[in-house]
Amino acid sequence: MDRSVVTIGRHIMDAERLYPEATGALSTILYELALAAKLIGREVRRAGLVDIIGQTGHVNVHGERVRKLDEYADDVIFRALDHCGHLCVMASEEEEDIRLIPEKFECGNYVLTYDPLDGSSNIDANISVGTIFSIHHKVSKGPRGSIEDALQPGYRQVAAGYVMYGSSTMLVYTTGRGVHGFTLDPSIGEFILSHPWMRIPAAGQRIYSVNEGNFSYWSPGLQRLVERLKGIDGSNEKPHSARYVGSMVADVHRTLLYGGLFMYPGDVHHPRGKLRLLYEAAPMAMIINGAGGRATDGYRDILSIQPTELHETTPLYLGSPAYMDLVDEFVGADPEPLVATA
Ligand code: AHG
Ligand code: MN
Ligand code: MN
Repeated sequence: MDRSVVTIGRHIMDAERLYPEATGALSTILYELALAAKLIGREVRRAGLVDIIGQTGHVNVHGERVRKLDEYADDVIFRALDHCGHLCVMASEEEEDIRLIPEKFECGNYVLTYDPLDGSSNIDANISVGTIFSIHHKVSKGPRGSIEDALQPGYRQVAAGYVMYGSSTMLVYTTGRGVHGFTLDPSIGEFILSHPWMRIPAAGQRIYSVNEGNFSYWSPGLQRLVERLKGIDGSNEKPHSARYVGSMVADVHRTLLYGGLFMYPGDVHHPRGKLRLLYEAAPMAMIINGAGGRATDGYRDILSIQPTELHETTPLYLGSPAYMDLVDEFVGADPEPLVATA
């Protein structure tokens, strides 16, 4: 092994030392998230063996059937962090409203929003799923947190990251000083630094990633972009490869490593797309930007969008700069926004 063994705990502490004013609060939050990731990963790995697969019979705020693993992951993250004393409020994809810190625990100066289990429709088929998190500073004046703390634009994030429960469990995070990936060594239960200073390729492999089943609902500009990527628009462009897992964390992680373009666009039925701004698009945009890529809604930098609702969605295009230039050229030329039809 030609690289020193750096655990995520050591990496977080080393990063903290670079900020003389640091109190260790953010480090504690990141460390507790790594603990939650191990607990969730353990259940994901044995989901087929225990009665944790399948439906809870509940429906979440988005009208989606909630799977037992969604609820488990949501609960693990909340309980791993509710007593850490450094959060003033949390918000989860699985909860309609913000989650205040129980009165018996101290409040802190950070805000955590998260997607506890991303790609959950894939879990029954043993396809990679993930967890996505976003951390902001508290901005409200009161002693405890409020919705104002959760509704902040992505450029104000102090940290963002995701966990991918794939062939191995990986945690990727940034605090604004590079993007770093850690692989869980299950034999010792430690996340070990395996991908320091991750950079997305300027163009990378010729891969595009989108659910083409929605092609007929897309804007003309997007249809032309995908026809260009397929080499069928008469431009003699060599066809690209299409890769789409249907778990955002898996599709974004591959795009970060291999380059190319990931899209979850709006369409005439859902002009603002499906992915949520606060705990899917914004944290992934911080990661991709931190690795030298770009992320937009087709017109604006995702990180510049001011949220108005906890679970609002946004069209999302992210990836290598060369492909984001094509998004600007083709999608940016479309009249905004798409008009929702029946
Ligand atoms: P979640 O399981 O947290 O609701 O996220 C699912 C999302 C995202 O992971 C993925 O990119 C997208 O759903 C796939 O949607 P389609 O099945 O409509 O393509
Ligand atoms: Mn998700
Ligand atoms: Mn989810």
